[in-house]
Order: sequence, then structure tokens, then C-alpha cells
Amino acid sequence: MAGTGVFSEILDGDAYKYYSDGEWRKSSSGKTVSIVNPTTRKTQYKVQACTQEEVNKVMELAKSAQKTWAKTPLWKRAELLHEAAAILKEHKAPIAECLIKEIAKPAKDSVTEVVRSGDLISYTAEEGVRILGEGKFLVSDSFPGNERTKYCLTSKIPLGVVLAIPPFNYPVNLAVSKIGPALIAGNSLVLKPPTQGAVSCLHMVHCFHLAGFPKGLISCVTGKGSEIGDFLTMHPGVNCISFTGGDTGISISKKAGMIPLQMELGGKDACIVLEDADLDLVAANIIKGGFSYSGQRCTAIKVVLVMESVADALVEKVKARVAKLRVGPPEDDCDITPVVTESSANFIEGLVMDAKEKGATFCQQYKREGNLIWPLLLDNVRPDMRIAWEEPFGPILPVIRINSVEEGIHHCNASNFGLQGCVFTKDINKAVLISDAMETGTVQINSAPARGPDHFPFQGLKDSGIGSQGITNSIDMMTKVKTTVINLPSPSYSMGSSGSSIRSRI
Ligand code: G3P
Repeated sequence: MAGTGVFSEILDGDAYKYYSDGEWRKSSSGKTVSIVNPTTRKTQYKVQACTQEEVNKVMELAKSAQKTWAKTPLWKRAELLHEAAAILKEHKAPIAECLIKEIAKPAKDSVTEVVRSGDLISYTAEEGVRILGEGKFLVSDSFPGNERTKYCLTSKIPLGVVLAIPPFNYPVNLAVSKIGPALIAGNSLVLKPPTQGAVSCLHMVHCFHLAGFPKGLISCVTGKGSEIGDFLTMHPGVNCISFTGGDTGISISKKAGMIPLQMELGGKDACIVLEDADLDLVAANIIKGGFSYSGQRCTAIKVVLVMESVADALVEKVKARVAKLRVGPPEDDCDITPVVTESSANFIEGLVMDAKEKGATFCQQYKREGNLIWPLLLDNVRPDMRIAWEEPFGPILPVIRINSVEEGIHHCNASNFGLQGCVFTKDINKAVLISDAMETGTVQINSAPARGPDHFPFQGLKDSGIGSQGITNSIDMMTKVKTTVINLPSPSYSMGSSGSSIRSRI
């Protein structure tokens, strides 16, 4: 059970504590933030409303702990990460319980998220040992005009304090995808969890605590964005920000100053379907890509662009599969569960009403109870409808009928987003050309968009983000190249007897 057994020390009465200096603490504010269960719409958990002074303290501790951590051998850093991964997986049940209650993620997917996160941490430890243990050696004579007098040694050094801000939809997995690379690279880490998902994050952080990481190296502060949000992202002690979430990321990137940023801010992933596509495969992928976790994934299929000649057949196949989706509470492992907040549900409803007014074809009746919205396929969507461009982050999927591949690519590229996209065709040459033409960080051929496997590069163009994620890319991003150049005397310079004799032998 969440908050019991090994996790009992993170709970005080009815409120979870925050993590600073290797200990679980209550905020001096005396205030808490409530987390509402999306299914019951009642307060499920409370977390500390940390103060700016408490943020200052964790920053100070993080700075000091990082100095020692950077000198800790790589194998030791990796060993602790492997230990944290094992503890996390061992406690998958109570952490999954938090995910179910805070973000209404279906039961099986909640367990998968925790296990996937353990695997991610272990892979990060392995990868870090490999790539951080290597440096480069360069010689000056390879560049015109230089004699062979400069030997350059390069290595990767940590940035300092990394601020990690994961989103509600993968609070554990997208936290560890930042924590693991930061730590293996020798950085310290301050985590600011999303409100919905904070308690899952606190349980996950406790697994790192149990693994025995040094005090102050990892901290987790919870609280109101209005009190500590900007204060954290603009804090002079932060040397790098890794953020996943919505368009808040755009304002963070404007305020953060001259530090490395890794940002993933959502997408409007298009699914382009050509005449020769296997429509059963497409329909199965539209269901998985458009409706898993009720469409609350940055990489969800958010618009289908299908050739008119196969549109009727495809829509029928998708409709048949939508009818089989189980709608209900996450505890019952339903396919479609309540969306994360009432305001999300209201936003989604606004998109649906706009499409209705403008004449979209409803393939199912629109139905909503509280935060629970039944899956809805909207056919004959036109570019003047909001749903053609905005990301609902809900189980609503628009279909736009196209008359040419160029029309599909044009729609995809007219979006502000550029995260992923997919194309379905049996013609691999055409698929690759379409992939080249799509302005997105990744294009999947004959499968729905997805971030994983977690070591694949993951990046968005345009408003979808800055930088590239994936385990190796994140380790690279959270390090700097340091070079040391050894300068030998030039052959024309007299070095005395020993130097001259070495030169003359070369
Ligand atoms: O932010 C990325 C997340 O929303 C999607 O991840 O693994 O479902 O493709 P995934």
C-alpha cells in the first residue's frame, strides 16, 4: 500500500513530506497542496507547499553534494543506480497504486510504467559507464597550418545542478529519464514533480533514498507553481533544466537564462494513410496510438490524414474497434479512463463543441460523466476546426480526408508542433520520401508514434521542443566537453639537448 511499509516515513498524518538533505521533511509553510483523484474527483493526497527558502536550501545542498559526487567513481554511481532500479521494481505495486489514484492511469499501464522506469535506470547506468569512461585524443597536424605540437584530450564533465520537471502523464518514467542521466554523469538533481503525479514521484524518490545515494544529491520539492515555479526555473543555482510538459515550457525557456535546456512540449502527431496501406494494421495502430491512456500522451496520434479513396473503409474499421474499448475506472484496467482534471475535460469538450458547430461527422455520440469522456472519432474534420490543430490530450480523434500525399504533408507541416508522425503504406520508398518531407523529430513507418524504446533518440521540432532525449542523448546533454591541450615546443624552438634529440628522432 502507498505510504506504508518502507514508505511510511514519507507520510506525516494525511500529508506527504518533501525530500531534502537525505531526509523527509514537513514544510515550514504549514500548508499543503491537494491532489484530486480524477475518478472520484475528491482529494486523494496532500503534499507539502514548499517555500522559496526551502528551495534555496536544496539548491545550496545540491551544489555542495555535486562536488563530491563528480569525483565518485563511475562504477559506484552505476552501482547505486542499479540498486535504485531494483528497489523501484520491487515496489511496483504501491507506486502503481499512486499512479492509478493520482492520474487515473489504467492498472496494467501503471505497473508497466514503474517496471519500464527501473529498466531505464539500469540501462542508463550501463550506458553511462561506457560513454563517460571514454574520451578523445586529437592531434594538431590534422588541421592545415599547424605543426604536430598540440595534443588535445577531451572528456565529459557534469554541468552541476540539474532541475528535472516531469509531466503528469508519466510522472515516474519521465522523472527517471532525467534523474538517471543526470546522476550517472556526475550532476546533482532537484526534482519538481507535477501536482498530479507528485505522490508517485515521492515514492520513486524514496527508492533512490533507500539505495543509499549521498545526502543532498537528490531533492524533491513540491508546492504551488505560483510560489516556487518561476523561482526554481530562474534560480541562479540551476545549471540545466530538463522539462516535459505543455506550453509552460515556452515561458520557462524564455526565462531560464544561459543554461542548457531539454524541453519536450507536446505534439499534434499526424497519421498519414496512403491507398495501399493495410487498413487493419492502420486501424489497430490508430486505436493504440490515439486512445491509449485516453489520448493523454505527447506522442498520441492526434490527427488522421487519410486518402479519400480508402477513408470510408478505414473509418468503419476504426469505429468497430472503438466500440470495443472498455470505458471506466483505472482500477478495472479500462482502456478509457477519466482525464486528469476537470479543466482538461472542459477543454476537450470545448474542442468537441467547436467541431460540432462547424459540421464534423460524429462517429459516436459524445458522452461525458465528470472527467470521463467516451472515445470519439470525428470524421470529415476541416482545417477551420480547432480540433484540426490543437492537441486535445483526451480520447478525441479527428479524421481529415485528403486527396493527395502533398495535402497530407502540407497539413502536417502547417502545425506549430513537430514531435512525431507516422505513415502507413506498403511502398517503402514512398514512406521514406514522406518521412523526409515531414517536419517532425521522428516518423514511424507502419506503426503509431511512440517515444520508446527509451534509448532511442526522442526530439521535437518547432514548438515541440528543444534538444534530443533518449538515454544516450540525455547523458550527452547533461555533460559538457572539457578539453586539455598539451602544447609541445615547435621543432624550430631550441629545447636544449634532450628535446632536440627527441625531435630529431621523430
Ligand atoms: O512525453 C512523451 C510521452 O507523452 C509519450 O511517451 O512512451 O507514450 O510514447 P510514450
